[in-house]
Amino acid sequence: MKKYYSWKNLAIFHDDFLSTSAIEPESVDLIVTSPPYNVDIKYNSHDDQMNYDDYLKFSHDWMTQAYKFAKTSGRFCLNVPLDKNKGGQQSVSADLTLIAKEVGWKYHSTIIWNEGNISRRTAWGSFKSATAPYVIAPVEVIIILFKDRWKKTKYDRDTDITKEEFMAWTNGVWSFNGESKKRIGHPAPFPIELPRRCIKLFSFVGDTILDPFLGSGSTLIAAGETERIGIGFDIDDNYCELAKTRIEKTLSINQLNLEFN
Ligand SMILES: C[S@@+](CC[C@H](N)C(=O)[O-])C[C@H]1O[C@@H](n2cnc3c(N)ncnc32)[C@H](O)[C@@H]1O
Repeated sequence: MKKYYSWKNLAIFHDDFLSTSAIEPESVDLIVTSPPYNVDIKYNSHDDQMNYDDYLKFSHDWMTQAYKFAKTSGRFCLNVPLDKNKGGQQSVSADLTLIAKEVGWKYHSTIIWNEGNISRRTAWGSFKSATAPYVIAPVEVIIILFKDRWKKTKYDRDTDITKEEFMAWTNGVWSFNGESKKRIGHPAPFPIELPRRCIKLFSFVGDTILDPFLGSGSTLIAAGETERIGIGFDIDDNYCELAKTRIEKTLSINQLNLEFN
């Protein structure tokens, strides 16, 4: 599989992550990703309205691939909604945690992401009546998993997290706004703040970061800004192109800022 694009330490592959062999097994330090949520988002090249059993099978298959590519010390930050109520209530985060453990991933903890500006409400159920009220928490989660052992034994790489960041981010309730689809031009982007925090908290400078569902490129931008090696996959060539454009724009602008400061 040829790279769609590469720039410095960042590479985009236009490929189906479920079947790709573009990267070496046991080569990735940290996976940060937000997969499709199966909530009928209109992606160009992915059906986001499978029946739930098919969605769980899809989740099992891609997490198996991710497991194969992770180093034994590899970690995995999985961003999904806590629950979903569109198309039927489901405990998405609980179900995907269980599947990850079936695949072999070990559980560390869960971060709650309180996205201030996102509404998850699609219905009240029975308004102002106990007949069948709908309750939905307007949060997503980041499930933290690892392959073999949590503690990293290699201390030859630099840490770049500040004391303030470490103290704030180890409190597992994170509050920052979600990203605008319109501004980014992708139907489901996460804000760069999400991969940035995961990368600085859970990896060292120079580590290899993988996003199997790259979308608009947010994880690679965060990887570039924090001097990691970044690898991203997307099944859709328009999103690969969008990620490329965003990387070039954001990272070269950052570089100019550094030169002028
Ligand atoms: C939730 S979006 C990721 C958004 C990303 N975090 C961002 O900030 O833009 C999921 C992405 O997965 C891609 N996708 C779906 N199935 C895929 C597959 N089998 N292999 C690779 N990419 C896939 C979709 O095209 C979509 O861009």
